[in-house]
Amino acid sequence: MARWTEGTVVDNYHWNDQLYSLKIKADIPPFKAGQFGRLGLDIDGERIGRPYSFVNAPTEQPLEFYSIIVPEGPLSNRLHSLKAGDKVWVSPKGAGFFTLSEVPQADYLWMLSTGTALGPFLSILKEEEPWERFKKIVLVHAVRTTAELTYRDTIESFSKSHPDQFAIIPFVSREDTDFALKGRIPAAIQDGRLQHQADMSFDPEQSHVMLCGNPGMVKDTSEVLMNLGFKKNRRREPGQITTENYW
Ligand SMILES: Cc1cc2nc3c(=O)[nH]c(=O)nc-3n(C[C@H](O)[C@H](O)[C@H](O)COP(=O)(O)OP(=O)(O)OC[C@H]3O[C@@H](n4cnc5c(N)ncnc54)[C@H](O)[C@@H]3O)c2cc1C
Ligand SMILES: NC(=O)c1ccc[n+]([C@@H]2O[C@H](COP(=O)([O-])OP(=O)(O)OC[C@H]3O[C@@H](n4cnc5c(N)ncnc54)[C@H](OP(=O)(O)O)[C@@H]3O)[C@@H](O)[C@H]2O)c1
Repeated sequence: MARWTEGTVVDNYHWNDQLYSLKIKADIPPFKAGQFGRLGLDIDGERIGRPYSFVNAPTEQPLEFYSIIVPEGPLSNRLHSLKAGDKVWVSPKGAGFFTLSEVPQADYLWMLSTGTALGPFLSILKEEEPWERFKKIVLVHAVRTTAELTYRDTIESFSKSHPDQFAIIPFVSREDTDFALKGRIPAAIQDGRLQHQADMSFDPEQSHVMLCGNPGMVKDTSEVLMNLGFKKNRRREPGQITTENYW
């Protein structure tokens, strides 16, 4: 299989001056919800490629990727400038193990994300499988400011179609709001604010926790959960914590 397929940008929606969603038409083989592909551009004679999680469900076209400009980052800045009709390289194969097929059966699913790591959870939630497998699903989106609480319409559609099975809990760490939890996820688990807001506990006998995004959040939250009796989920040794670090 070729390493790269040529894709065409069909839309580049800018949520604000940092966050953007790229929609790309490209013919790639099937991937699993929660996986990532790679995007690439030729920069100064060299192909620079980076992993990006699919936001679209495997059955949907065009492909969709949700990204933030990283200061001084070579690729994220250039992807931000792409316009409809521009070409971009796409790796033809989905990769990674951040998928429901790696998650053992549980009653309750926690999906904890920071920033653009909301994306893979949206892809997973667009499929039937999570709704068939879990009694309740809580999606947490932790951001610095209210303006970064994106994809609200998509999330609202999950609330509407699964009113008793789904809850969304936003965290805003650097602004006061009258609707989001303030601060960081691990602290809110330690003091019980997150469980209270979700009306759902962290119980290793019944829950599975998927964590995605900032590696500091993944590490600090995993430590808090391990103190509650959770174990990392490995293929050879199943547990209740499944993680993906974005850097
Ligand atoms: C499995 C996987 C999936 C990913 N999926 C996404 C995605 O869906 N959306 C997305 O925006 N990014 C995602 N990333 C990060 C992405 O691959 C790039 O690293 C990012 O877009 C920056 O690219 P860059 O070339 O501009 O800078 P890079 O050279 O890649 O990064 C420069 C430095 O910035 C830091 N950094 C990288 N990414 C981030 C970030 N998102 N936030 C804060 N600091 C960061 C790192 O310390 C890195 O050394 C993913 C990474 C991995 C490993
Ligand atoms: N978001 C912006 O407005 C902005 C602006 C310019 C550049 N950038 C760059 O964009 C990149 C990504 O930024 P981002 O805002 O999406 O992601 P981020 O820095 O990972 O922040 C997202 C959320 O994760 C929280 N967090 C950070 N470390 C944590 C930890 N150890 N445990 C628990 N929670 C933690 C943050 O809380 P805290 O607020 O407490 O850290 C914030 O609420 C960075 O390189 C950043 O420099 C972002």
